[in-house]
Amino acid sequence: EIEGSLRPKYFSEYIGQENVKEKLSIFIQAAKNRGESLDHVLLYGPPGLGKTTLSSIIANEMGCGLRITSGPAIERPGDLAAILTNLGESDVLFIDEIHRLNRSVEEILYPAMEDYALDIIIGKGPSARSIRIDLPKFTLIGATTRAGMLTSPLRDRFGVICRLELYDVKELCLIVKRSAQILSIGIDEEGALEVARRSRGTPRIANRLLKRVRDYAQVRGNGYIDLKTAKKALDLLEVDSLGLDNIDRKMLHTIINKFSGGPVGIDTLAYSIGEENDTIEDVYEPYLLQIGFISRTPRGRIATKLAYEHLGIKDTKE
Ligand code: ADE
Repeated sequence: EIEGSLRPKYFSEYIGQENVKEKLSIFIQAAKNRGESLDHVLLYGPPGLGKTTLSSIIANEMGCGLRITSGPAIERPGDLAAILTNLGESDVLFIDEIHRLNRSVEEILYPAMEDYALDIIIGKGPSARSIRIDLPKFTLIGATTRAGMLTSPLRDRFGVICRLELYDVKELCLIVKRSAQILSIGIDEEGALEVARRSRGTPRIANRLLKRVRDYAQVRGNGYIDLKTAKKALDLLEVDSLGLDNIDRKMLHTIINKFSGGPVGIDTLAYSIGEENDTIEDVYEPYLLQIGFISRTPRGRIATKLAYEHLGIKDTKE
């Protein structure tokens, strides 16, 4: 799978998230020196920033196995018990969207994380008893878009909590050039910068756009990505000069036109554009906040002067 081969396997190949990389490298080195497993790690931040990639890097750097699953995939306590009892010593268990675990499953995790033990109730009523099964000393890596979505007993059981930040254009440009090399497509600095600028701070988007620009270059161009080719391809994809897509623009137009620039509450805004509340908060808002197109106030979201300028709308309140 191509997507897989674009993923870096070690920290040395991983671009950006410098603080997270440094912290994790130190904790991994320390755990290895002591011959212990790594403490449980919570990774949070917007989608597409490399939470799954980081978990596989952690497993590789630890020299351990990796098991990947997600909150919604673990339906019953028995599903989690089966996964936990099949782990090897020091293995990494990655649970994506960990905030979506149901309560009964989450309760199995508490003793598993804290004491590496599984408490199983057998029987019913007065004769019910609990037996404890020892588990390997594993590392749980939980991923979520917002740490605030976790219950506090779960959050409190992570020894390492890392927030992933949106990437800057320079970092994305390095990622685009690295990926282009792996995909065997020629690209120059200006072409790579253009893809990076329109990737809204997100490597997953940068890699997706790069693949589509490659298609364009190979069919309509000479198989090489320069600024002109990148621009034409990205315009065709309806990704604007700052990476905004139709939904971003709809959201900004709604705040500006329907709600006079705001403030408008998140629920009202979500309803008006027909998107989920969480999708707006996790997927759309982080980038619009980063580029300063919206700001959050206690009474809701407002569109900033920069947003009006970008959309070519006159701010009548000025
Ligand atoms: N591909 C996706 N994310 C990456 C990153 N952070 N560094 C290098 N390559 C990547």
